[in-house]
Amino acid sequence: MEKLLSWYKKHGRKLPWRRTRDPYKILVSEVMLQQTQVPRVLLYYEKWLTQFPSWRSLAQATNAQVIRAWSGLGYNRRALMLRDVAKTVVGQGVPKSETDWQKLKGIGPYTAAALAVFSLRTRALPIDVNVRRVLGRVFFGKPYPTPKIDRLICENKRIVFGRAHQFYDVPQALFDLSTMICKKKPLCEICPLRTECKTAPRFLSGGVKTPKRSLKKSRERIRIGKKYPDRIYRGRILKLAAHIRGVGLRHVGSVVDPAYTPRDAAWMTAMIERLIADKLVVRRRGRLFVE
Ligand code: ADE
Repeated sequence: MEKLLSWYKKHGRKLPWRRTRDPYKILVSEVMLQQTQVPRVLLYYEKWLTQFPSWRSLAQATNAQVIRAWSGLGYNRRALMLRDVAKTVVGQGVPKSETDWQKLKGIGPYTAAALAVFSLRTRALPIDVNVRRVLGRVFFGKPYPTPKIDRLICENKRIVFGRAHQFYDVPQALFDLSTMICKKKPLCEICPLRTECKTAPRFLSGGVKTPKRSLKKSRERIRIGKKYPDRIYRGRILKLAAHIRGVGLRHVGSVVDPAYTPRDAAWMTAMIERLIADKLVVRRRGRLFVE
């Protein structure tokens, strides 16, 4: 992977979370980056760190404060999870290994590996869809690898890192290669790894068809006739409740959906019930609250 690292030195992005090894700042960046693209995260990252500069300050934040600060990033549950991790860290101290990170509720294998390699600087490999795509192509000849390949990747971690001494740079370089070159439709002609990649010849000879759309997106629930998936409306309901203490249930529908009609009432109620079941909002006397 020497070619990858010299390409990264020259073309890698200078991103704010690449200048720190503070586990708090790294966790914030990784959780934001799990659902949102880099340019958007850049608009939120520093602001978040100003408002919540430490584990302690985040641990003390209320649900409503956290959801307001996260508003616009999507998947609000992750913001609350982040706050709950901060509470645990304040109580128990900062985990000292990949395995210990994984023991915290909400920290999966990807995030634990990211913290291990970016903060503790041990040889851990965070595998997200982008890293999986690059490694699946380069080492295993799979143009569109699925999570099934992760075990194989983990078993070959030594080969992935090669003789690198800067463990930190390898996954960061993979992130950059995946967005700049090894995209869904890759630019193999200009790829630093094209001579060693097991899949480049097939792409270069036009022998690979690009799949239409990801399974996950097409499986999202969308009410017929509505513009967005339910997830978007749930996010709007939550944001509304976090900004207006005790928003009246009767008003929610028309505020979060300009095309709302009484026929949407059962749909809207079901979404609100789901937010309540997920403990993101509470209902008291016909009003919604975020606590
Ligand atoms: N995606 C996930 N983690 C990332 C990081 N640290 N830098 C850039 N993109 C990422």
